[in-house]
Amino acid sequence: MAETHAAPAPAAPEGELSIRTLAMPADTNQNGDIFGGWLLSQMDLAGSIFAYKTTQSRNVTVAIEAMTFRKPVYVGDVVSVYGSLVRVGRTSITVHVAAWVQRRNESELILVTDGNYTYVAVDDDGHPQAIRQDSPSIKA
Ligand SMILES: CC(C)(COP(=O)(O)OP(=O)(O)OC[C@H]1O[C@@H](n2cnc3c(N)ncnc32)[C@H](O)[C@@H]1OP(=O)(O)O)[C@@H](O)C(=O)NCCC(=O)NCCS
Repeated sequence: MAETHAAPAPAAPEGELSIRTLAMPADTNQNGDIFGGWLLSQMDLAGSIFAYKTTQSRNVTVAIEAMTFRKPVYVGDVVSVYGSLVRVGRTSITVHVAAWVQRRNESELILVTDGNYTYVAVDDDGHPQAIRQDSPSIKA
């Protein structure tokens, strides 16, 4: 079976800071490690905020791809999640979402997890709707 490897981690966060939070004991799994699902959820929130700012539309998550869990997250880590635009389609937008941590008593930022989140702009009934391609965040 072919091995897959993640792209090398950039030296510093890229894109726009979307959310920052603290990993708490309540976010751990049965082994006392931070639960991957908690991190995915924070990243989804961050990507969704980025998608909303870009499209100015309600959106729903349709796909999460190319996730790489590079390093663990520990209780007490400050987690900062950044988004950057990958592509804008007719009704969907793909955001590269990257979670970085600053561990207690350390100044270095460490990339822990990244991946691509795709959101679909939807109307009030939850049906896909066209994204305005002339939005300043898209043209920029
Ligand atoms: C998202 C949803 C509205 C899309 O409805 P749909 O009828 O499948 O819509 P379409 O087939 O017209 O696709 C809409 C867009 O999504 C994209 N898309 C659909 N499935 C996709 C997938 N698996 N991966 C990436 N993009 C996808 C399409 O390419 C299209 O993009 P474009 O207009 O930019 O070309 C519908 O699938 C849905 O409601 N899903 C549940 C969403 C949800 O509950 N999310 C939270 C999960 S916890």
